[in-house]
This record gives sequence, C-alpha cells and structure tokens, in this order.
Amino acid sequence: MDAMQALITRRCVRRFQLKPVTSDLVEQVVDAGRLAPTARNVQPCEFVVVTDAGRRSEIAEITDHGKFIDEAPVCIVVLSKPTKYYLEDGSAAVTNLLNAAHAIGLGACWVAGDKKPYAEQILNLCGVPQEMRLIALVPVGYPDEIPTVEKRELSDVINWETYGHKTP
Ligand SMILES: Cc1cc2nc3c(=O)[nH]c(=O)nc-3n(C[C@H](O)[C@H](O)[C@H](O)COP(=O)(O)O)c2cc1C
Repeated sequence: MDAMQALITRRCVRRFQLKPVTSDLVEQVVDAGRLAPTARNVQPCEFVVVTDAGRRSEIAEITDHGKFIDEAPVCIVVLSKPTKYYLEDGSAAVTNLLNAAHAIGLGACWVAGDKKPYAEQILNLCGVPQEMRLIALVPVGYPDEIPTVEKRELSDVINWETYGHKTP
C-alpha cells in the first residue's frame, strides 16, 4: 500500500480474526518500530512479541481498556530505556508499528502503557527489567472490523504563518 494511503486510512482495530500472523509479518512490523526517529538517534526502544495465549490473556486482564488483547494473535509490548525522550521516542515507534501493520494488511491498536498503574505488572509478567518504561501494548492481527472514528477537519487544525490565519 502506498505510504500516504496507509497513513490516511489507518484506524485502531480492536476486533481480530482467529487467523494467525506469521512471524515474518510480525518482524516486518517490529522493524518499522525499530526504524522510527529517536532523539539524537539514541534508539532506546525494545519490543517483546507475545503470542502465547495464556500470557496475552493475563496482559488483557491487567489492562483497563485493553481487554480485546486476548483476541489478537499477537501483542507487541513496546518498551523504552528510561532516557530523557523515552516517551517521544516510544510514541514514534508505536506510530510506526500501527502504520506498518495497516500497510501490510493487518490491524493494530495502541493500548496505553506509560502512566498506567498496571505498567509494573506488565513488565513483571514479560520478564522485563524494572528500570524499563512500558510505552504501549499493541495487539496485532487480521482485522475483523472496519472501524470508523470522527476526526477533526483539516481546515479546523491547520493554520498558516500565525495561529488563526486559515488561508495560505
Ligand atoms: C496514548 C494513547 C493511548 C491509548 N490507549 C488506548 C487504550 O488503552 N485502549 C484503546 O482501546 N485505545 C487506546 N488508544 C487508541 C485511541 O483510542 C485511538 O487512537 C483514537 O480513538 C483515534 O482512533 P484511530 O486510532 O482509529 O484514529 C490510545 C491511543 C493513544 C495515542
């Protein structure tokens, strides 16, 4: 899929087909996360790919708004070393994961990690050293829905030269 088309049509997917996702496709998605921009090219992010159904269910149960994780064949746990820009770098990685998944015909969703009280529990469950930060949980699978979501109009968010000036 063309990059602009992928960026424009991507939506968070929360319902997944039972069909498994090959490790090759998962690696393509994680590779896109690896290649995201990072402040001063520090590259603090690491990823845990969870396919085990039992562990996915435990992760789903721990979250508040990620119960659907147990229905996705894969959950990518996005981590960062605790650097100055860990959240910006981690968020860029998550965005790349979501867009890459969509571009290759998969669906994915951003489930909150950083700031959530359950972050420590998820780290423990996945054997991650406690100094690491949990950026997000990203369930991935073949979509079983075509989500629609309201977005603000371009004309509402774009300003030219100074705030409030709406024409180029
Ligand atoms: C920081 C952040 C945390 C989010 N956490 C959750 C979450 O815990 N559960 C969930 O279902 N969606 C979560 N989302 C997804 C948003 O709900 C979604 O991106 C938003 O509704 C816009 O929809 P779209 O991604 O389909 O464009 C999160 C998104 C972001 C950026």
